[in-house]
Amino acid sequence: MTSLAPPTKQVWWREHIEKGELIWITVVVVWGIIMTLMMPFWHVYGDQNLSGETYKTTPAAFLEKTQAVVDQWTVRTEGQFNKPVVKPPVGADIYLVGRLWDWWPSYELEAGQSYRMHIMSTDWQHGFSLQPANINLQVLPGYDAVITVTPNKAGEYAIVCNEYCGVGHHNMVGKIYVTEGRG
Ligand code: CUA
Repeated sequence: MTSLAPPTKQVWWREHIEKGELIWITVVVVWGIIMTLMMPFWHVYGDQNLSGETYKTTPAAFLEKTQAVVDQWTVRTEGQFNKPVVKPPVGADIYLVGRLWDWWPSYELEAGQSYRMHIMSTDWQHGFSLQPANINLQVLPGYDAVITVTPNKAGEYAIVCNEYCGVGHHNMVGKIYVTEGRG
């Protein structure tokens, strides 16, 4: 005796489907099509789905580039662990490391100016979530994700992690300061 008994009727796929079940199947299929179409729609009309470039790299190579940016353009440090705050020149390539449990370094950017921001994890999966702008990006080790950032409003922005990554997940916070542009 096995729990996986073969169907008693050999042509089970031609059996009558309950009306309720048929309605649910239809709802699910239609909703699936709508949600699939929403992806290209929000890509074009939404402000949240970023299109960017992605390059394969290694944690060591990425950390080296990040360190170079920190060494060149750090203007101050802050917090308990003296996290560098980097103020890069307009248009620069800047690097943000996501790791257990930190976004490193912090940045100070000018409103109205564009920067090429590279984001990568050096250990495992994290989620870049810029608040309160609500811009989200998956961050994976080995993949340098590049986005063009043009802050449009001065203020203090927090980067939180929105992929659960262990006991320090809720402490994984970074900062981007946006200052008024020089006009
Ligand atoms: Cu990193 Cu959660």
